[in-house]
Amino acid sequence: MNYARFARAQVESIKKTVGRGTAISALSGGVDSAVTTALAHKALGSRMKVIFIDDGLMRQDEPETVKKAFARLGIRVTIIEAADRFFRALKGLTDPEEKRKAFRDTFYKVFGKAVADSGAQFLLQGTIAADIIETKKGVKTQHNVLDQIGISAKRGYGFVTIEPLKTLFKPDVRKVGKMLGLPAIMYQRMPFPGPGLSCRVIGEVTPPRVEIVRQACRIVEEETAKFKKFQAFGVLMADQATGVTQDGRRRFGDIIAVRCVDSENAITATATKLPWAALDRIHKRITREIPSVSKVLYDLTSKPPSTIEYI
Ligand code: XMP
Repeated sequence: MNYARFARAQVESIKKTVGRGTAISALSGGVDSAVTTALAHKALGSRMKVIFIDDGLMRQDEPETVKKAFARLGIRVTIIEAADRFFRALKGLTDPEEKRKAFRDTFYKVFGKAVADSGAQFLLQGTIAADIIETKKGVKTQHNVLDQIGISAKRGYGFVTIEPLKTLFKPDVRKVGKMLGLPAIMYQRMPFPGPGLSCRVIGEVTPPRVEIVRQACRIVEEETAKFKKFQAFGVLMADQATGVTQDGRRRFGDIIAVRCVDSENAITATATKLPWAALDRIHKRITREIPSVSKVLYDLTSKPPSTIEYI
């Protein structure tokens, strides 16, 4: 595939569709929305507004990293600080589906307001071919943003969705991102779930518990960076385990499960055969750098019967 030709064709098509109008793009920190935004910027320049919702559930330094990376490409990103709203919505919830629903409802309230306030007529989405196939098969329902927020062209609001990547699969999206000059940290990123670190906290999602899992994910990402894998992260369990301090006193501490998987397409996955030395470094760093943790586990389960994330 000729990536430069693909990009040129999409830029022309976006220009033609938007005409003299304006568009809005929502960045998530993921590859697909980043590449979509970079393409649309070439077509529309300042007639596209880019927003990033900081839900407090992002990886370490993610909002700032995204903002800086795009500033280098001449693209201004508006960050909407919404962490308080997300934590309020998640307060007291422990059921996985209730947590996902609370996240989704809050996201679409915050995002819906930003779209409505923007005055734009077009919305750019990073939908890729796999999303469409999975939705058709009923494997995973991808959010249709316009319907979710109750703003759809059919209802007369006049918004039109543009999905420049909908014919591509992830490896090609990464190559288009590279060709457009995005930094490697953006186009090589591992998949990350929409509800962010709330998927990796079992039990109640609170700011201190998210901070623990954020640090665990950072350490796992750093220590597995040189290994070929599909995804690698840490998960905070709901229960605690007995540990012992240096001076022999008993204490109860948090439990972190380390998940590192090989997969082609996320439909099936197997645990990565990480070298023992890497696992050894991971558990030592986690217990040293996150003092509340007293136990670190390595998850060996495949998908199926497990899934990649824990909720
Ligand atoms: P599971 O856990 O179902 O995950 O094996 C498969 C892939 O999808 C990611 N994932 C999500 N991505 N929104 C997303 O955009 C979500 O709600 C979501 N849940 C899981 C997961 O990280 C893995 O790559």
